[in-house]
Amino acid sequence: MSVTATDAVRRVPVGLGDRAYEVLIGPGLLARAGALLADLLPRRRTVVVTDATVAGLHGDGVLAALAASGIAAKLIVLPPGEETKSFEGLADLCDRLLAETLDRGDLITALGGGVIGDLTGFAAAIYKRGIDFVQLPTTLLAQVDSSVGGKTAIDTPRGKNLIGAFHQPRRVLADIDVLATLPPRELRAGYAEVLKYGLLGDRAFFEGLEARGADVLAGDPDALGWAVERSVRMKAEIVAEDERETGRRALLNLGHTFGHALEAETGFGGALLHGEGVGAGMALAFRFSAARGWCDGQEADRAVRAIAAAGLPTTLAEIPGAPFRGEALLAHMLQDKKAEGGRLTLILARGIGDAWVEKAVDAGPLADFLAAEGAV
Ligand code: NAD
Ligand code: GLY
Repeated sequence: MSVTATDAVRRVPVGLGDRAYEVLIGPGLLARAGALLADLLPRRRTVVVTDATVAGLHGDGVLAALAASGIAAKLIVLPPGEETKSFEGLADLCDRLLAETLDRGDLITALGGGVIGDLTGFAAAIYKRGIDFVQLPTTLLAQVDSSVGGKTAIDTPRGKNLIGAFHQPRRVLADIDVLATLPPRELRAGYAEVLKYGLLGDRAFFEGLEARGADVLAGDPDALGWAVERSVRMKAEIVAEDERETGRRALLNLGHTFGHALEAETGFGGALLHGEGVGAGMALAFRFSAARGWCDGQEADRAVRAIAAAGLPTTLAEIPGAPFRGEALLAHMLQDKKAEGGRLTLILARGIGDAWVEKAVDAGPLADFLAAEGAV
């Protein structure tokens, strides 16, 4: 890699032995993509998988950057949106990769948000029994979460991310500059995942976000670089310790079981973005923890205030489609991969920066809590 120590690049190692890789964070990385990826591309060719929105904004720039290092690249442009992360989307992508006659010595480049990263990573995991790929995440959510850690998947009508594989990327280039074109609502949704790291295990980071969150959401490059790096460092550390989610990695699901239920009730579409569901879900997780006496009420209020300050929903009433049926929300939560015998696994909190995995949450108290939160 031709990045020198003087470059304003923050580097976070993901320590996974012979599958270790680095996440590079900083401005101007896509403009240098060729130089930053050349060592992984001895054949000087790649296929760049992206969606139509990202292709229009950043596709030509990435192709030019690759060409500048003598790397021939072709764009595969998919429709934007969660629907692309489907069996149909996967079949279409695999067919188009085969048409490019890529073989196992080649490498696929994912350029986009979590939809493109998850789908392309899964295609890379199964294409000719596995081919390398790199992630060029273009949403805040993808930079701080989905591009790191090797979870790849597609959705089915029965639920999200149910078919997938662990397949680690060879490198991640998180270019802060690309976030300038991201719609503010998408930036806020990604910020929910940033707050998640502070709330689950890093009180000092949470306090930093209380001070600098407005700058992050205003797109200030220094604040963004700092927030992305702190987030990626925590994710990398957790993934290195528990790649397959047999233990601590489950903490990264703070707010997700509540959030998924809300996403399911709102149809997994534009009504509630994933990060918005996570924001509301984290608020519910803190209030449930307080209601059960596990978390101090003032701590829960402080967590909820930070979520609300980012313009994210914190109550059921704020979510399109409210009021929700408590039974329907509970049914979605009981479908969670980790629910067993009418008991759920939830990530709960003793306080800010102190989450734990509770494996025996009874449905009864949860139903009462949802009713108190306004579910009918
Ligand atoms: P996304 O990929 O759908 O991107 C959101 C929207 O922003 C899309 O319309 C996209 O075209 C557009 N966009 C992307 N980059 C842009 C840019 N720089 N400028 C302007 N527009 C841009 O959504 P997302 O929020 O990035 O990812 C959500 C997905 O990530 C979900 O499918 C979720 O399940 C998955 N996810 C995966 C993991 C994991 O560990 N693998 C973790 C969290 C979420
Ligand atoms: N986004 C949760 C995880 O990567 O484990």
